[in-house]
Amino acid sequence: MSAAATDPRIDQLFAAAKAAQAKAYAPYSRFRVGAALRSDTGRIHAGCNVENAAYPVGTCAEAGAIAAMILAGDRAITEILVLGEGPELCTPCGACRQRLREFGAASLKVHVAGPEGLRAHFTLGELLPHSFGPDNLA
Ligand code: THU
Repeated sequence: MSAAATDPRIDQLFAAAKAAQAKAYAPYSRFRVGAALRSDTGRIHAGCNVENAAYPVGTCAEAGAIAAMILAGDRAITEILVLGEGPELCTPCGACRQRLREFGAASLKVHVAGPEGLRAHFTLGELLPHSFGPDNLA
């Protein structure tokens, strides 16, 4: 199933994630990731993973996409596509699920893709149930 053959809006995210993945800095894991999100303004923001010789300092592609969104002035994510390598699903790590929670509802769509195209779809609520978010501090 190719991204292009399904939904043109997802295809746009796939193309942006692929372009971001090509710029990933992953000399240690050699696992390149690109992420592209759509905000509630309709704009797309992308990011890639940026590793560091001090391994824990590295950042995920999702974190880069969120930073790009904030810099652009947007504040709410409606969907995100994560493009990884290898045969397994490249679902967002636990920390990135929480990062997404800051700017997205339980209905936020998380599309997971490999080089060949889309592999799976989740909601953030499925990936991070019973989450703690901004509403808890209201
Ligand atoms: N990585 C991401 O950027 N996003 C994910 O969803 C999973 C993992 C990165 C972090 C690290 O640079 C590399 O992939 C291997 O874990």
